[in-house]
Amino acid sequence: RMLKRQMACRGDIHRLNAPLLAIYESLIPPEEERTKQKQLMALLEKLVCKEWPKAQLFLYGSCANSFGVSKSDIDVCLAFNEDISDKSEILLKLADVLQSDNLQNVQALTRARVPIVKLMDPATGISCDICINNVLAVVNTKLLRDYAKIDVRLRQLAFIVKHWAKSRGVNETYRGTLSSYAYVLMCIHFLQHRRPAILPCLQGMEKTYNVTVDNIECAYFDKVEQLRNFGSPNKETVAQLVWGFFNYWAYGHDYANSVISVRTGSIISKQEKDWTRRVGNDRHLICIEDPFEISHDLGRVVDKFSIRVLREEFERAAEIIQYDPNPCVRLFAPYVH
Ligand code: CTP
Ligand code: MG
Repeated sequence: RMLKRQMACRGDIHRLNAPLLAIYESLIPPEEERTKQKQLMALLEKLVCKEWPKAQLFLYGSCANSFGVSKSDIDVCLAFNEDISDKSEILLKLADVLQSDNLQNVQALTRARVPIVKLMDPATGISCDICINNVLAVVNTKLLRDYAKIDVRLRQLAFIVKHWAKSRGVNETYRGTLSSYAYVLMCIHFLQHRRPAILPCLQGMEKTYNVTVDNIECAYFDKVEQLRNFGSPNKETVAQLVWGFFNYWAYGHDYANSVISVRTGSIISKQEKDWTRRVGNDRHLICIEDPFEISHDLGRVVDKFSIRVLREEFERAAEIIQYDPNPCVRLFAPYVH
């Protein structure tokens, strides 16, 4: 099936541009949501500071990486300068501290894969998850945000891909499909590979930003204002890119041998990463290398059933864009697998 059906782009692809851009525009959060997020962060900071004056709160995930659509929950990291051996204890204390004010549904989930405190702020209507010392996520959030500043087509493509994934039920890691974070990395990788390239490989350039987190050196070129025109030699429209993205994952990607790597700006081999067989529960049926935690395959959640679902959804999307006279309706039609 691989490679043999790579399709030529339909001639009238440009007709899709306006409707796709309209969907993108409709998903952008209004400025007042930002204001409300800041308001909630200020309240959390005030409460946390009383208990732990030296701790810091960071926003991460979609509310801070610029790939958040309207009405998203917010992800917050409570960072201590020291290692925390017992996160449960801190989380229970944190839930207690937050309980005392006018926040609702404050709950410590100490046994989750990523232990968190969940809460809802009735003043702003925002729900929030707070984790402890997940500084790597704060740093990869900055990397994604910096990539988004280089060319607006990344944000447009990623919004549409995320919207598609949520509509089609393939954005659920607990059911073996991919995280939003993985989809954004797939979009970055895809745009690094256009000819001419729309995005550079920031980790392959001069290192103007450099932090070490959990013994991992996170370094890359972050003076992205200097790269504002990087993608301009490439004139592709968002419609062509959305089409190209699905066509790549439907018919172009070599699932058996390839790992996509934003870190190197290229495709590397599964052999080289030693991601050729299942180890424990980690399978490598679709391989997406984390840009900093390079032993981490974001595709490891995908199993032999969900890989079929994913690939069928990529093929379905590619076919719809190719042949459907009005693709936007079917492309985003809600579905539960
Ligand atoms: N993250 C990570 N490693 C993963 C999954 C997530 O480091 N395997 C971190 C990333 O910093 C990511 C954040 O957790 O930005 C939130 O992940 P996710 O919920 O997948 O992405 P969001 O951007 O928050 O998307 P959504 O709009 O769906 O909430
Ligand atoms: Mg999130």
